[in-house]
Amino acid sequence: MVCMDRKHLSPERVVRVVEVIDMVKDFTLGVGPVHGLIKITFRIERGEFVSIIGPPGWGKSISVRIIGCLDKQTSGTCLLEGISLNGLGPDQLAEIRNKKIGFVCQQFNLRSGNSAAENVEVSLNHVGVAAGEARERAIKPLQAVGMAGHEDRMPSRMSGCEQQRVAIARAIVNQPAIVLADEPTGALDARSSMEILAIFQRLNREYGITIMLATHDPDLAKYSKRAIHIAAGKIESDTPIIEPRDAVRDLENIPASPSAEAAPV
Ligand SMILES: Nc1ncnc2c1ncn2[C@@H]1O[C@H](COP(=O)(O)OP(=O)(O)OP(=O)(O)O)[C@@H](O)[C@H]1O
Ligand SMILES: [Mg+2]
Repeated sequence: MVCMDRKHLSPERVVRVVEVIDMVKDFTLGVGPVHGLIKITFRIERGEFVSIIGPPGWGKSISVRIIGCLDKQTSGTCLLEGISLNGLGPDQLAEIRNKKIGFVCQQFNLRSGNSAAENVEVSLNHVGVAAGEARERAIKPLQAVGMAGHEDRMPSRMSGCEQQRVAIARAIVNQPAIVLADEPTGALDARSSMEILAIFQRLNREYGITIMLATHDPDLAKYSKRAIHIAAGKIESDTPIIEPRDAVRDLENIPASPSAEAAPV
């Protein structure tokens, strides 16, 4: 079991999902140290939809990896639902990652030999849910991303957008503290990208799912509720977006390709 230094706090009562304080990440290369993150500080509260934006190579994915328990900072503090990740070992980080983090990446990373439902069940298997129950619990998240009725579809028979929908279902099935989406539309065309943004907006609005979206594209950030600009490893600005764009409305202005199947968003 993970040793929770604040386990008397139930997740429902902890409003601050992420707290990053003075986080530094250095890499040692042959030529000398590379500064990935230079003392960044930010917070994400429950129910927020925050984007981390900045040019390529300037520290977005490193932030995602540290918050997602895949990497460790050189110095500074990272708390997830009030739990400091600093002193935790690989097994403890893996347990937290499986239970509290939902990842969505540019590459959908579905298992090619498994159906949509089986791909979602993988997340449940990681936290010890038995096979029968896992199948039952995979249904709702697939519905939430517009893939109801496609539980048995294989990835080879899905569009990129459909594969990303399944990847999102896999990310939310364990009701994580936060969904970390790193360039989730990077491999998709304009319409599919907008469909994915519409799904994120709906999951945030209707289900209260906390989302951190890392992207180099400032236009994507307009669909979130707050934008944190990272440049050269430092935070340049952290500002609320008063009126986020509505992806469902913007979808109306992007023509569907004639061969595309209409999937609900
Ligand atoms: N394992 C590593 N070893 C050395 N340098 C690294 C390593 N990982 C990242 N970096 C460096 O840290 C910097 C930030 O990397 P990061 O992947 O966070 O960028 P990013 O903002 O996500 O970029 P992109 O938009 O291309 O995804 C880059 O200069 C990168 O080369
Ligand atoms: Mg990146």
